[in-house]
Amino acid sequence: MANGVPYMRTVYWQDGQVKMIDQRLLPGEEQIAEFATVPEVARSISEMYVRGAPAIGATAAYGMALAAHLSQAGDSDGLLNDLRQAKQTLDAARPTAVNLSWATRRLLTLAEQIAGEAPAGQGTARTLKEALLAEAQALADEDVRINRRMGFNGAAVVPEGANLLHHCNTGSLATVDFGTALGVIYACQEQGKNIHVWVDETRPRLQGARLTAWELMRAEVPMHLIADNAAGHLMRTGQVDVVVFGADRVAANGDVANKIGTYKIAVVARENGIPVYCVAPTSTVDLDLPDGDVIPIEERGPEEVVEIGARSVAPAGVPVYNPAFDITPHRYLTGIVTEEGICYPPFDQSLRNAVEKGRAAIEAERSERRVP
Ligand code: MRU
Repeated sequence: MANGVPYMRTVYWQDGQVKMIDQRLLPGEEQIAEFATVPEVARSISEMYVRGAPAIGATAAYGMALAAHLSQAGDSDGLLNDLRQAKQTLDAARPTAVNLSWATRRLLTLAEQIAGEAPAGQGTARTLKEALLAEAQALADEDVRINRRMGFNGAAVVPEGANLLHHCNTGSLATVDFGTALGVIYACQEQGKNIHVWVDETRPRLQGARLTAWELMRAEVPMHLIADNAAGHLMRTGQVDVVVFGADRVAANGDVANKIGTYKIAVVARENGIPVYCVAPTSTVDLDLPDGDVIPIEERGPEEVVEIGARSVAPAGVPVYNPAFDITPHRYLTGIVTEEGICYPPFDQSLRNAVEKGRAAIEAERSERRVP
């Protein structure tokens, strides 16, 4: 709790299991779900018990630690094979959020590094198991620290008394804690900036209505829930000062994949001269992809569009197309807020600098922990 904002831990490791708040049940029920095998952890991601790019990354890291914990392999080669298989299973859970494969690669690379430097044998397998759990814990703790830095970096561009428009859920629930774009809002709240937030409901899964509204009400941040279709009207009539949202993947040129509907908001914001900030940690930046056109866009089942709660709102058998994300070309962004500062155009250069600084910070933290 800081200045009245209650924080939480969305995903964590306890007694050899990966535990998380079941986000499918919010806001009606607050329940902790437990997962004890790697395929089950993958299911927690694909079925969206946990969602939001950084939270998915932390869950996948714990999934890799779980694979090591459960491995029956007697030596490091066998354990590495189990980890490679676990990485494949986890990476296949959802395609768009790059934090997933970023996290599994980080743990696998560390394991390969430790195994390569030590003589094979039972002792190495035990060392690897301990090292992977420590790395998953470090990744989760680091996520919270990074989000706070990012939040305060972003708060610097939000004027006193501003009205912000926010899409999807990017808060404590979408990360390990504090959030990305919602982290900016929490930072403003901690600074007593007197802000107000327009919360997009975010059809079809209603992450805004179910999760963001729940988080902001707990934190006592002044807000109104709006139908997605109201956003354009509010922007044209001068009721929005700043637009903030997160990202599931940012391409090297600054194009952003985020929750479906983000593109439409950014275009209307530009039309009305409203600044637009994407807020994402450097782990969400994928320098291997040149632009947004090559980011994989997840397509989800028709029931998400056809049903609201248990009730069907369309004729039985209606054909449905349900892309879960869209691409906002970088020309619509004022800036991309990261833990290493705010990146401005030209994004290809500013993002590369931020990613390099982010990698150096991870290395520095590891050498403090004396990880090889
Ligand atoms: O389908 P979801 O709920 O996982 O989508 C989440 C988003 O689009 C968020 O905006 C994004 O992950 C950034 S959150 C920190």
